[in-house]
Amino acid sequence: MRLSKRVASIQPSVTLEISAKAKALKKEGRDIIAFTAGEPDFNTPDYIIKEAERALVEGKTKYTPTAGIPELKKAIVKKLKEENGLEYKESNIVVSSGAKSSLYHAFEAILDEGDEVIIPAPYWITYVEQVCLAGGVCKIVNTDEKTGYKLVNEQFESAITPKTKCVLINSPCNPTGVVYTKEELLEIAKIAEKHNLIIVSDEIYEKLIFDGEEHVSIASLTPYAKENTIVINGVSKTYAMTGWRIGYMACAEEIAKAVSAMQGHTTSNACSFAQYASATAISGGREFVDYMVREFDYRRKALFEGLKSIDGIKVVYPKGAFYVFVDVSAFFDKSYNGKKITNSVTFADALLDGGVAVIPGLAFGDDNSVRLAYTVSGEDIYRGIDKIKAFVNALV
Ligand SMILES: Cc1ncc(COP(=O)(O)O)c(C=O)c1O
Repeated sequence: MRLSKRVASIQPSVTLEISAKAKALKKEGRDIIAFTAGEPDFNTPDYIIKEAERALVEGKTKYTPTAGIPELKKAIVKKLKEENGLEYKESNIVVSSGAKSSLYHAFEAILDEGDEVIIPAPYWITYVEQVCLAGGVCKIVNTDEKTGYKLVNEQFESAITPKTKCVLINSPCNPTGVVYTKEELLEIAKIAEKHNLIIVSDEIYEKLIFDGEEHVSIASLTPYAKENTIVINGVSKTYAMTGWRIGYMACAEEIAKAVSAMQGHTTSNACSFAQYASATAISGGREFVDYMVREFDYRRKALFEGLKSIDGIKVVYPKGAFYVFVDVSAFFDKSYNGKKITNSVTFADALLDGGVAVIPGLAFGDDNSVRLAYTVSGEDIYRGIDKIKAFVNALV
């Protein structure tokens, strides 16, 4: 069968491949510490589950308005105003089946064939696949320790061409955990304005932030940025609700209308009772989030310090999200149990033999590194570090 060119160009997920291997080994009884899951290992808080139950019992099981129920949109508008300093109306909000879906709709709404999107690397691989599916062209800008793993002015400006339509910002960042400062975002906003670019700002990890850092939405920084940013957010990471599939975008009414029309012909609306539960999540207190952030912070420090103590590993200090990104290129050309390590994929494969699953950096546009998610218990973090140390010591 001949599939469409669009679909044929999608790359198989390196993440899923290594996760599947780790699962299979666990099933065989092997002791594997999996630093692979991009989701909190906490359960959704009870008060949110109760709201979903209430909605179900009350028959909130029908189609909803395409762009989301008024209760949820109201909660989002209030949140954006109080927490991000952003004034939106309900007509600026579109609720979708997860932030992933919001992002895809955003790219579909703004990109014509051949339009370029600037994406700083390391990046979350989904951006690249979605931009391609929507007919756009990714302009990858590599960042490294010299730029603090952030998009800096000169790099950004020199990547802009007459075809550039949009720049993607993800702060806090998956996979590096870096958080852009207000000043850095302001510079990006000014350059975007100078070149008339749309900004897609993925803020899904905004509340998972440490060391007293403050999350700033780039949309709040200038009138141009407010009008031309598509803010992406959702409940998955903040409230441990990855399976509920609720995300949203806040943007100019023109874009919101287009996305809503598109959604009307694709998914219709996000899950009805999950929307009610999400309204409660977003307008509820910070108790659960604070608890989860404290726990992640403890694990972040343990994992960072543990990895830093291993000779040859270079660690990016993470200030947000729940990932640690480490450069392991010092081990390339070495072997483990007869397996030669030449890149991030062969490193991850060999390390899995040593009992630790990580995601190869290739999946994030950086083949020198791997990503570890501290979505595992503190005890597993310490055991994982011991296994990584033993692995490194066994390299020849
Ligand atoms: C950077 C980033 N944005 C968006 C998402 C998608 O979140 P959702 O579960 O709401 O689709 C993820 C999930 O891994 C992510 O890492």
